[in-house]
Amino acid sequence: MVQIKDRYRLYIGGEWVAPSTRQYFPTYDPSTEETLAEVAKAGPRDIDKAVRAARRALPAWAGMKGAARARVLFAIARILQERAREFAILETLDNGKPIRESRDIDIPLAAAHFFYYAGWTDKLEYALREPGHKPAPVGVCGQIIPWNFPLLMAAWKLAPALACGNTVVLKPAETSPLTCLLLVEVLEEAGVPPGVVNILTGAGETGAALVAHEGVDKIAFTGSTEVGKAIQAKIAGTGKRLTLELGGKGAHLVFEDAALDQAVEGIVRGIFFNQGQVCCAGSRLLVEESIENTLLELLKRRLSTLRIGAPLDKNTDLGAIHSKEQMTRVRSYLESGQDEGAVLWQAFFEAPKKGFWCPPCLFSKVTPSMKIAREEIFGPVLTIQTFRTPQEAIALANNSNYGLSAGVWTDKGSKIFALSKQLRAGVVWANTFNQFDPASPFGGYKESGFGREGGLHGLLPYLARR
Ligand code: NAI
Ligand code: MG
Repeated sequence: MVQIKDRYRLYIGGEWVAPSTRQYFPTYDPSTEETLAEVAKAGPRDIDKAVRAARRALPAWAGMKGAARARVLFAIARILQERAREFAILETLDNGKPIRESRDIDIPLAAAHFFYYAGWTDKLEYALREPGHKPAPVGVCGQIIPWNFPLLMAAWKLAPALACGNTVVLKPAETSPLTCLLLVEVLEEAGVPPGVVNILTGAGETGAALVAHEGVDKIAFTGSTEVGKAIQAKIAGTGKRLTLELGGKGAHLVFEDAALDQAVEGIVRGIFFNQGQVCCAGSRLLVEESIENTLLELLKRRLSTLRIGAPLDKNTDLGAIHSKEQMTRVRSYLESGQDEGAVLWQAFFEAPKKGFWCPPCLFSKVTPSMKIAREEIFGPVLTIQTFRTPQEAIALANNSNYGLSAGVWTDKGSKIFALSKQLRAGVVWANTFNQFDPASPFGGYKESGFGREGGLHGLLPYLARR
């Protein structure tokens, strides 16, 4: 049902072309370590070709009536829905995430983003803050995306860019490029003109060459804080526009008056969704001291029932860790936490011989200065700290270099409003966690980046005022 080719070339100007580097590299199924396909490594010459193709396609695409572009975006959304099963299976194979998540979350949300932004294409004048300015696209956009939500991140980036009349050179992550490459079929069927979207595969070097290209008007990046900072430094003074969506260390606050059984479900969704490889994961649990022991017991009991294993099995709760590199990183944090004196609990799990696996992990006796409490682990690892007063909870939550997400569990509405105003995070969930909607803006403070994706705010980085 899913057709995977042996080899994928680069998609430039509406055609599949061989890379100037003549090099291809494999992409794996992280649950079996088997090669799924080989993809092309794009070099600077390919980037140049793609940027030129995007530039040539710009006037016609930007000049189209909004309603005509809307038809194309609606068609992308509809075809994605029709082919959702195929995309979900391919995403799970290439990424390692449970099929339940790719089927129920990643692919439907990707389609929803195209639906949502299709609706804006003929209303862009209303999106600008100052009335009387005619909206215009920024131009050629370089978009670089990570491996944790491959198709969804492509949709977050492509939908608003295309709605505003921009053209794009998109670089998927080197370890999960297949759904973006399959998306080409959807774009073509929907009537996206040649050159409007170009897809170039490759690793960091390819991304860096895209950032450096003079013909790119805007860069949108989602990934690590380290690479985000390097991109910002490189772009400084060039006049290119930039939005960065970087890491996080989300605080998840649970008060003693919360509905604890529901809070447990929220905590599980907060940190074990996508094996915790989520920038907005609720990775720091802050619990009111009086309920620490009760909550810890409830959590352990719940985590012991989670099923870890074959990502394509529809009963699987946790799939494979995405790559060997990521596995090594997660392991190093498990060691560092124990070295620094925190207490590790892991759900029982016998890992298969092949693939990259990590059971749900809880760290208690955590102090704010520990590495595991400060740095983004990006894995199924939850740290637990306690607080006595709401003030202490806020101070702990905001004591972070990051500011992407936070969550609050309490029975009191007034507490929710008071706390969410003081939490320095781009999104604050109340009595739920990791809920996404295309109409809602998403983005960070501090080292989590700047600029917003989603909602009306997500249009602004792709609009110039004329
Ligand atoms: P990364 O930041 O290296 O990769 C993200 C994307 O940027 C990929 O497409 C990659 O090819 C590209 N890239 C790498 N170096 C580049 C450069 N110099 N210029 C332009 N593009 C470049 O992230 P990586 O190495 O995959 O993961 C490392 C850590 O980063 C993770 O453990 C996690 O903590 C964090 N991360 C956060 C994400 C988020 O959603 N906030 C997503 C992925 C990783
Ligand atoms: Mg990297």
